Amino acid sequence: MGVDRVRWGIVATGNISTSFTRDLKLLPDDAVVTAVASRSQDNADRFAAEFGIEHAYDDYRRLLDSGTVDVIYIGTPHPQHYAVARAALQAGIAVLCEKPVTLTAKQARDLVAVAAEHRTLFAEAMWMRTNPVVQAFFADLASGVIGEPQQVVADFAFHKPALPARLLDPALGGGSLMDGGIYPMTFTFMALGRPAEVKAVGALNEDGVDLNVAMAWRYDSGAVAALTCGLRSQNPWTASVSGPEGSLLLPHRFHHPEYYVRSTAAGQERIDVPVHGLGYHYEAGDVMRALRDGLVEVPSLPHAGTIEVLELLDETRRQIGVRYPGDDEDLGG
Ligand SMILES: NC(=O)c1ccc[n+]([C@@H]2O[C@H](COP(=O)([O-])OP(=O)(O)OC[C@H]3O[C@@H](n4cnc5c(N)ncnc54)[C@H](OP(=O)(O)O)[C@@H]3O)[C@@H](O)[C@H]2O)c1
Repeated sequence: MGVDRVRWGIVATGNISTSFTRDLKLLPDDAVVTAVASRSQDNADRFAAEFGIEHAYDDYRRLLDSGTVDVIYIGTPHPQHYAVARAALQAGIAVLCEKPVTLTAKQARDLVAVAAEHRTLFAEAMWMRTNPVVQAFFADLASGVIGEPQQVVADFAFHKPALPARLLDPALGGGSLMDGGIYPMTFTFMALGRPAEVKAVGALNEDGVDLNVAMAWRYDSGAVAALTCGLRSQNPWTASVSGPEGSLLLPHRFHHPEYYVRSTAAGQERIDVPVHGLGYHYEAGDVMRALRDGLVEVPSLPHAGTIEVLELLDETRRQIGVRYPGDDEDLGG
């Protein structure tokens, strides 16, 4: 794709779309947001005015038909991702879609297949993977500084007196697992790969939405991982990998850190890596490089990782009994 200037379209005008669009401004002039779509013209116009966007549509489909964008960013709730992403890929429009890209692994496999069929780029916006601190952390881990990893401990839980309605609504893919649990799961997958065995317990509310989840993963190497997520507690929100020679730790809000801590026989060292903005422009920059290289997959946001973590999410939901409208067939339940 011989694009000098990459034209972005933003789908949905909620919290994360706002943060992502703000961060896009940190990229050089070759990234331009040309269109936004919302379910309401008022919201689209408000968003367009805030960010100086030329085209504003009251329907996602109209944005896809407009011919004004090369790539869309999807910031709707999770259940709405699949249909928008699929329609865009079929139209030859590249897609960067919020996490989790779909509710089930089956849907994610389908999107990867559609992307391949239409030779169109598709990526999950798992921004943790493109954060420079996280990348330095994993480079350090790969260097063998702590020896063979034996344990991962990671948690993603927060509490707000008034949670966004989306998080408690099964029809909007509510619950801590899909929203937050995907981060410790992806982190552990990056550190240790796919586990041989997964066990999970969860506490659900009367609507069947998970409020507290604990997971234990076992590996044939002998390594184990302990992961939690929740919506009822203020957790340390950290992630660590430990081995016989020491440990590496990502601090509070480990999915977009400013430093990490290496503890070895040499002592404890804080390692700072420069990061800018909120951190969403790193994934956007990687998408633009991949677009220019004519790729259907962004190397830092691999399809296999997206699908395998969704398979683990499927299995965890089966074990703790979280169901979303319409996913029984995909989950095989
Ligand atoms: N990467 C991150 O750091 C991060 C952080 C938070 C959330 N997320 C992910 O981003 C997605 C959106 O989260 P958010 O916190 O931005 O949610 P949000 O503030 O509720 O915004 C979601 C937007 O989606 C649109 N939408 C489309 N169909 C909808 C429906 N049926 N009900 C409600 N809204 C609908 C709405 O925009 P219009 O009215 O304009 O159509 C709404 O404003 C989720 O998949 C979540 O997992 C990622």
